[in-house]
Amino acid sequence: MKPKIGIIGSGNVGTALRRGLEGTGYTVQSAGRDPNGLLTTAAWGEILILAVPFGAIDDVLRQVGDTINGKILLDVTNALTPDYQLALGCTTSGAEELQRKVPKAKVVKAFNTMFAQNMSTGKVKGEKLTLFVAGDDGTAKNLVLSAGRDIGFDPVDAGPLKNARWMETLGYFNIQLGYTLKMGTEIGFKLVH
Ligand SMILES: NC(=O)c1ccc[n+]([C@@H]2O[C@H](COP(=O)([O-])OP(=O)(O)OC[C@H]3O[C@@H](n4cnc5c(N)ncnc54)[C@H](OP(=O)(O)O)[C@@H]3O)[C@@H](O)[C@H]2O)c1
Repeated sequence: MKPKIGIIGSGNVGTALRRGLEGTGYTVQSAGRDPNGLLTTAAWGEILILAVPFGAIDDVLRQVGDTINGKILLDVTNALTPDYQLALGCTTSGAEELQRKVPKAKVVKAFNTMFAQNMSTGKVKGEKLTLFVAGDDGTAKNLVLSAGRDIGFDPVDAGPLKNARWMETLGYFNIQLGYTLKMGTEIGFKLVH
């Protein structure tokens, strides 16, 4: 039985992940800013995908409150300042700070190292992208690895949540390649293994 997936944020990432997950048989509900929709989605989903800007996380957490206790919270965000610099450096990560804020949720980091344009297929130019998945709860991590495999990625267990700090740096590098160096969004990382 596939877990019910609630997506908070219906922008580029939320929309792409919804398409990819529904395409492979997951039941998905999404919410944007509407507080009622947000609460309903958070209460309904077994995996909750946090697909909002880094600066909006505290606002979302305030609104969902205890609803997320015990749930898998999939953090796809890149911890960036409004002018696209790394907000937290390399001695922690957005995901680790998130876990500290919601100790009763199971935070998993994934999907932040690629562009939204490639999230619904897991592929670029016909090649599978690597989906790095980091987290401290093995069961939660396995569900996310499976969902990534179902979409079409090559899922790789990236170890404990602490490794999110390197995944977030890799996400930052992806943005540098795509936008600053103008390679575009039809690029992505592949771990040969
Ligand atoms: N775009 C990418 O290629 C990419 C790749 C990897 C990771 N990420 C990360 O994924 C996250 C989402 O990126 P995105 O490109 O999907 O952004 P986006 O297109 O701007 O969408 C963000 C979504 O979050 C909603 N939102 C904003 N503030 C909110 C709040 N306080 N409460 C509830 N919902 C709120 C927005 O609603 P409104 O439409 O009403 O503003 C929108 O639906 C970011 O953290 C980003 O760093 C993005």
